[in-house]
Amino acid sequence: MRTRTLGAASLAALLLLTLTACGQEARGGSRYRPDAGKGGTIGLAMPTKSSERWIADGENMAKQFRKAGYDTDLQYGDDKVENQIAQIENMITKGRRLLVIAAIDGSALTEVLQRAHDAGIPVISYDRLIMGTPNVDYYASFDNERVGELEARYIVERLGLGSPAKGGGKPYDIELFAGSPDDNNTRYFWSGAVKVLQPYLDSGQLVVRSGQTRMNQATTLRWDGGTAQKRMDDLISKNYGEESVDAVLSPYDGISIGIISALKSAGYGTPDRPLPVVTGQDAELASVKSIIRGEQTQTVFKDTRKLAAQAVAMGDAVLNGRKPEVNNVKDYDNGRKTVPSYLLDPVSIDRTNTGLLVREGYFTAGQLS
Ligand code: GAL
Repeated sequence: MRTRTLGAASLAALLLLTLTACGQEARGGSRYRPDAGKGGTIGLAMPTKSSERWIADGENMAKQFRKAGYDTDLQYGDDKVENQIAQIENMITKGRRLLVIAAIDGSALTEVLQRAHDAGIPVISYDRLIMGTPNVDYYASFDNERVGELEARYIVERLGLGSPAKGGGKPYDIELFAGSPDDNNTRYFWSGAVKVLQPYLDSGQLVVRSGQTRMNQATTLRWDGGTAQKRMDDLISKNYGEESVDAVLSPYDGISIGIISALKSAGYGTPDRPLPVVTGQDAELASVKSIIRGEQTQTVFKDTRKLAAQAVAMGDAVLNGRKPEVNNVKDYDNGRKTVPSYLLDPVSIDRTNTGLLVREGYFTAGQLS
């Protein structure tokens, strides 16, 4: 009798244990302690402090990882590839549990990520896809092609171009800028934009006077504003005399600021010679203010807080044996694997909707006044 009772009790206990384990498995995946993977330090390798967005990305992630129960080791590579590699090596040596990396040169991390893999450290590629290695687990970014599309569509609408099939009308002059050649995002921004612009270039409604229509003629190493300014100086002095350029495709606010400086020194920005339509990306404070002043025309808002939240959710899932949420498993092939990705939506901003940035709490009204 006694044995039978005990037997039933242990059976019940076993059942309870199994049920509990199943429940936890369904919720968490780590068998008996859903948060078994919490704690330890996360390595955050960001490219540069020269742009306010990366400062915000790093700080947002550090804050959110801390809230989720981890310590963080946040490093900036000063846009020097060898610095970033050394920082990642150091993170591996120090036993960081997870690496979140926004690469300076997307193709330069193969060896160091092999070392991370050998040490059992998972890797999340942040904003920029890391290329040429199987040792990247997930990618969190924005829909990068869509960014280029938004910039180009803005130009087409702002210039009031009619249907390319009909052609005709006054042709407008445009010059094209691309991002850093070693950043994989560059080709997505470019191809998204060119897909929209090509029919107008073909119909002659848009003309690139410089003839520099290939991406490798338009790139800007390390997204540097000064480099863009020099190229724009050159484009103006060699191709535009009496004629004015009507639009400039720019893929990043720092580049847009360089372009606008060159235009102003060439006499643009007066009633006789207004500034052309100039696009951008990142909704950096200086550029949003420039948009409000009527200098830069457009930018693309990518909420770095949301991107950080995505990377933190991915990292927390990986460390706790859960599958991170992804929404794209086909477009981001890094040459060695198609990296499962989560892509957020970018939003076009011009003078008419800068208020959105205040409503979303990205800037205060005071910052924009
Ligand atoms: C890209 C990023 C852009 C911009 C640029 C320059 O990789 O996607 O949003 O920040 O770098 O920093």
